Amino acid sequence: MTDEPFPAGPPPQPLGTPLVRREGRAKVTGTARYANDRTPPGCAYAWPVPATIVRGRITCVDTRDALALPGVLAVLSHENAPRLAPTDDPTLAVLQEDRVPHRGWYVALAVADTLEAARDAAEAVHIGYATDGHDVLLTPDHPGCYVPEKVYGGPGARERGDFDTAFAAAATTVDATYTMPSLHNHPMEPHAATARWDDGHLTVHDSSQGATKVCEELAALFKLGTDQVTVVSEHVGGGFGSKGTPRPHVVLAALAARYTGRPVKLAVPRRHMPAVVGHRTPTVQRVRLGAGPDGTITALAHETLSHTSTVTEFVEQAAIPARMMYTSPHSRTVHRVTALDVPTPSWMRAPGMCPGMYALESAVDELAVALGADPVELRVRNDPATEPDSGRPFSSRHLAECLRRGADRFGWLPRDPRPAVRRRGDLLLGTGVAAATYPFSVDASEAEAHAAPDGGYRVRINATDIGTGARTVLGQIAAAALGVPGDRIALEIGSSDLPPAVLAGGSIGTASWGWAVHKACTALRDRLRDHRGPLPADGLTVTADTHRETAESSGYSRHAFGAVFAEVQADTRTGEVRVRRLLGQYAAGRILNPLTARSQFTGGLIMGLGMALTEGSSLDPAFGDFTARDLASYHVPVNADAPVVEAYWLDEEDPHLNPMGSKGIGEIGIVGTAAAIANALWHATGHRFRDLPLTPDKVLTALTAATAPAAPGA
Ligand code: MOS
Repeated sequence: MTDEPFPAGPPPQPLGTPLVRREGRAKVTGTARYANDRTPPGCAYAWPVPATIVRGRITCVDTRDALALPGVLAVLSHENAPRLAPTDDPTLAVLQEDRVPHRGWYVALAVADTLEAARDAAEAVHIGYATDGHDVLLTPDHPGCYVPEKVYGGPGARERGDFDTAFAAAATTVDATYTMPSLHNHPMEPHAATARWDDGHLTVHDSSQGATKVCEELAALFKLGTDQVTVVSEHVGGGFGSKGTPRPHVVLAALAARYTGRPVKLAVPRRHMPAVVGHRTPTVQRVRLGAGPDGTITALAHETLSHTSTVTEFVEQAAIPARMMYTSPHSRTVHRVTALDVPTPSWMRAPGMCPGMYALESAVDELAVALGADPVELRVRNDPATEPDSGRPFSSRHLAECLRRGADRFGWLPRDPRPAVRRRGDLLLGTGVAAATYPFSVDASEAEAHAAPDGGYRVRINATDIGTGARTVLGQIAAAALGVPGDRIALEIGSSDLPPAVLAGGSIGTASWGWAVHKACTALRDRLRDHRGPLPADGLTVTADTHRETAESSGYSRHAFGAVFAEVQADTRTGEVRVRRLLGQYAAGRILNPLTARSQFTGGLIMGLGMALTEGSSLDPAFGDFTARDLASYHVPVNADAPVVEAYWLDEEDPHLNPMGSKGIGEIGIVGTAAAIANALWHATGHRFRDLPLTPDKVLTALTAATAPAAPGA
């Protein structure tokens, strides 16, 4: 491949324009239809029954009381549910076996004429269990811990150089362990599906981040061709990773529709979600850093432990960013995981990178304190010129520029580095910084572009807009490639009947779909240029895919970068921590739509604020399940928690990405934010809190201990 496959140049006009969302009016007027907003004639409703034990077997399913209720059509369980084909994702093998692997695992499904009758019936199902002992607590020395073979395409553990010797010889060292609880994605729209069968064809409206994969999985489970399954995800009320793969609810809806012969609607009750749609695992992360007197990091170790379920292995790839963030000749990164009797964890916004950078960026701050160095300058000093493990060049790496520009905008300097010296009445104030990164990747997609004789265009691709602005940005990419105004272009996305495409996840959506759209529209433009005379009545249609382009390896290490700055206040009477200012400065390639991009960045920053201060799902060791089961007990930040939140970006030109020159921006906003806030809390109070979230109880305990009068004789 050529050195610069997409030469930098002036951007096509519509890219970089702050356009409002194409579907904005439909959403705010309530006409946008989500997965459960359609009610086909004869529609029935399903309500799942969660297991009330943690581990064991179902010994009996007594459905007599449930079936006697008015309007109840069926109760499905492993005893009568249609058999599914084996699947690679055992979380989807619902109602197939008597085994209960965790509390909340679905053991039955009630189907009725109305939602209320289905819920009543679900409550009237009596399940008998044989209970085994269980273990849901992640401890650092858990006997079940092992190093997984593969993590994020690399080895689970890797070492470069000789960490132990270098760490022992380092002039200044940090050795700290950071912990955080499970977190839940809790998108506004719960997981929901409406399923119906017509002459052997399964149609499902599903709330999903990628209908292509849902279609493939349902086809496999029900032993159908993918042409016998249609999955529509037209509008999706958020997912944050929890809708990145098919979830049990969509299989249950299809099973119930098959069994009853009726269309079936199923929305996962909010209180069930913690156990059945995934969560970010709790992590225990030990980071050790050794540095010379000038601040050069000579030894770096990041060892992380997370849990998975007994259903399937999921590894939180938290030590991955430590492999490329900082120069260190001696480096060790290790993932460990242990399978517990817990719900199956999964993706949550910036899997691995988000928790991993919390620990790493906290440790770098601790190193700065130990060295007496400025945290911005320490990071700049250790900014590698090439990817440390491979020696490959970065396609673009403007971390140092993000740190410096962000510091200027935030007013980082002059900064008194001493902690706990800025008092405003009962408040202690401090500032903190952390770096952010997220890998760039791209995957094959297909798109179709059509020109009609009336001058209108239509672009079709099974992209998913989960609230990001994907529709709008794809319209801009199409308009730029066709050289026509965007309002001449109709977009069809969100259905598996459209050309197949990757999911909205891993921050790869726009890069992947956009490339296919660009290619199809460029080819259509060429066809139109060469066309003589009026277009045929059915217009001209061009299809394109990016299988070849995306299979080529780049030769470059490709990542987005950023720097997050926070100012916090800690109330010395109550222990309450509030964020006063939050600022992210990013370098993420060309920003295609500043309006939707800013929302992506600030949304990530605010989600990171929640991770730092309010969010957490504890597993109760006796009960064996998450205790925070709704949005009253799982505290996501609200407007009053979100202060001045600012996001900026550099005009980064990177010719090694895709024809748009864009990196993904969906996830980087959450990365580093919790560390910036925790670092600011150290600066405010002089206490290093290493266990998230930073709730008032923890902070007050530490502040009270510090100011308590010394014991007599001490
Ligand atoms: Mo994102 S957690 O890859 O949907």
